[in-house]
Amino acid sequence: MNIPFRKDAKFCSFFSYSKTLIASFALAILLSVPSLIYAQDSTAAAGGAAAGAAPAGGGDAAKGETLFKNNCAQCHAVTDERVVGPGLKGASGRHDFAWLAKWVRNSQAVIASGDPYAVKIYNEYSKAQMTSFPNLSDDDIKGIFAYVDQAGTAAPAAAGAPAAGGAAAGASSAQGGGPSDLFVIVLVALVVVMLLVLGVLLVIVSLLSKAVSGEPGTAVEKQDFMGRLGNSLKRIASDPAIRSATIWIFVLLVLKATLDGAYSVGVQQGYAPKQPISFSHKLHAGEYKIDCNYCHTGVNRGKSAHIPSANICMNCHGVIKKESPEIQKIYTSIENNQPIEWVRVHNLPDLAYFNHAQHVNVGGLECQNCHGEVEKMEVIQQRSSLTMGWCIDCHRKTEVNTKDNKYYDKLVQLHAGESKEALKVADIGGLECSKCHY
Ligand code: HEC
Ligand code: HEC
Ligand code: HEC
Ligand code: HEC
Ligand code: HEC
Ligand code: HEC
Repeated sequence: MNIPFRKDAKFCSFFSYSKTLIASFALAILLSVPSLIYAQDSTAAAGGAAAGAAPAGGGDAAKGETLFKNNCAQCHAVTDERVVGPGLKGASGRHDFAWLAKWVRNSQAVIASGDPYAVKIYNEYSKAQMTSFPNLSDDDIKGIFAYVDQAGTAAPAAAGAPAAGGAAAGASSAQGGGPSDLFVIVLVALVVVMLLVLGVLLVIVSLLSKAVSGEPGTAVEKQDFMGRLGNSLKRIASDPAIRSATIWIFVLLVLKATLDGAYSVGVQQGYAPKQPISFSHKLHAGEYKIDCNYCHTGVNRGKSAHIPSANICMNCHGVIKKESPEIQKIYTSIENNQPIEWVRVHNLPDLAYFNHAQHVNVGGLECQNCHGEVEKMEVIQQRSSLTMGWCIDCHRKTEVNTKDNKYYDKLVQLHAGESKEALKVADIGGLECSKCHY
């Protein structure tokens, strides 16, 4: 039973050294998980595009970009963000080219044919009709999706890079929500697996080192299994390397959770509270086509769009549907001289400045760019995230509407001298902190 090298100090210290080694190895793998996941994300998207009927194959992305911006950008983002329609990231992986071409040329025909995906998505988007583009050639459509694949995979990396730095990166990552949840789940699962593997390894190591250091074999056998396990676990718990690794993992997870929480504070995408009167935009702005400005009188003139007072309702409801209990609430409010207490849906924090006239009147944007298809909403809903990343993203992408606006003539001239690209909002100061923060 005498093992010749049993008190060999070098050998024993090799074992205790190996514990530290395993612990640091675990930590290193853990830290590299985020980049692994992101790398997978982008390769998956690229792989999807290359697979099957591969619309990207031969598509001219540069031409596609112009076509996309002129025809699709008002309703679709190249990322997976929802605008009016779904984000197009990965669309070329979801469908083969024949489907995409048919859809883009006449989506209604695809829906009418009973294609289950088309019907599902049509219903999901509350039967919003996508414009038909019968004039786009196969090459045009290939180009568009080549551009979408390119821009969609480049976008997440670019979003983090701007002058706005950490705040902007955080804000735009908070928009996604989904991938970040997945990320946390994967991370936690990995941590659990790592800890299990680590535990087993350490049990082996400590049993081996015990055997090597010559504790009599019979004694080892006499101890029941649970006792041995308990001992090894105690050892593991008292090992400084393991302890510090565990503490680090814990600290990192808590940090990640806090950061996520902090960035999503106040993000209320999809918020649609119940209103005191069941006023329907679908009915008024959709079916009866009442102009948004008729009620939201501020949009062309100032910062706030304004919520209409009961008097504006009375222009029509003085005669229309007087007997309806919902309309009676308008009467009660006027009689009691109490404003109707509409619940506010959109809410920027005080630190940010947003002006409707700048965007609607000067910029020539449609309400739907930011509020979605209000004319189809029974109950009004916040469609955009309203985060800083959202503002900045649009300022980077959107060309300034310089037509018939003398104010911009000089600027356009100057800009054309410096750059071949169109004048974007970013070029006129749309990324300057002081423009949006007092
Ligand atoms: C007026 C808004 C609008 C425009 C413009 C528009 N789309 Fe759409 N698109 C939609 C809507 C809404 C849907 C969701 C389905 C529905 O409601 O019909 C959709 C769905 C799609 C889908 C299916 C997406 C998926 O996730 O499978 C593709 C692909 C698509 N559009 C491509 C395009 C392309 C390419 C262009 C430009 C040539 C374009 N769309 C222009 C509104 C629009
Ligand atoms: C007949 C009057 C009327 C018309 C027309 C109208 N709205 Fe409204 N809008 C209201 C009222 C009243 C509210 C507040 C009640 C509510 O939230 O439903 C409101 C609320 C809103 C809100 C949410 C405000 C908040 O609390 O953040 C938005 C955004 C909005 N309207 C956009 C539009 C757009 C875009 C159009 C045109 C497509 C439009 N509205 C047409 C009366 C109108
Ligand atoms: C330009 C005219 C016009 C204005 C302004 C207007 N409405 Fe209406 N509203 C209508 C019409 C038309 C109907 C549909 C009546 C019908 O179904 O016969 C209607 C229907 C309604 C209904 C549904 C009533 C029911 O029981 O079916 C409500 C609630 C309502 N309006 C609230 C409002 C409120 C609140 C305002 C002010 C913010 C407002 N409306 C401003 C024209 C108007
Ligand atoms: C560039 C994006 C953008 C466009 C375009 C836009 N809005 Fe808004 N809207 C916002 C933001 C951001 C808020 C929140 C403002 C705040 O909380 O101070 C808002 C808030 C509102 C509100 C709530 C009241 C207020 O002013 O705070 C109404 C009503 C409204 N918008 C209606 C409209 C209408 C009608 C149009 C089209 C004529 C329109 N918006 C176009 C971004 C936009
Ligand atoms: C849908 C695109 C879009 C979104 C979203 C958007 N903007 Fe803009 N913004 C524009 C355009 C276009 C202009 C240029 C208007 C003009 O011609 O002056 C502009 C101009 C501005 C300007 C003036 C910049 C300058 O240098 O004159 C400010 C400030 C501004 N936006 C703030 C915001 C804020 C704050 C948000 C987010 C709450 C926001 N914007 C979201 C499109 C957008
Ligand atoms: C186009 C408009 C715009 C520009 C330019 C802009 N911001 Fe913001 N910023 C916003 C809006 C809108 C919010 C509020 C976002 C929210 O509540 O999620 C915000 C929020 C913030 C916050 C608070 C973060 C939080 O999560 O609450 C900080 C800090 C900030 N911005 C710093 C900056 C700095 C520094 C710059 C310049 C490098 C800058 N911003 C440029 C629109 C802008």
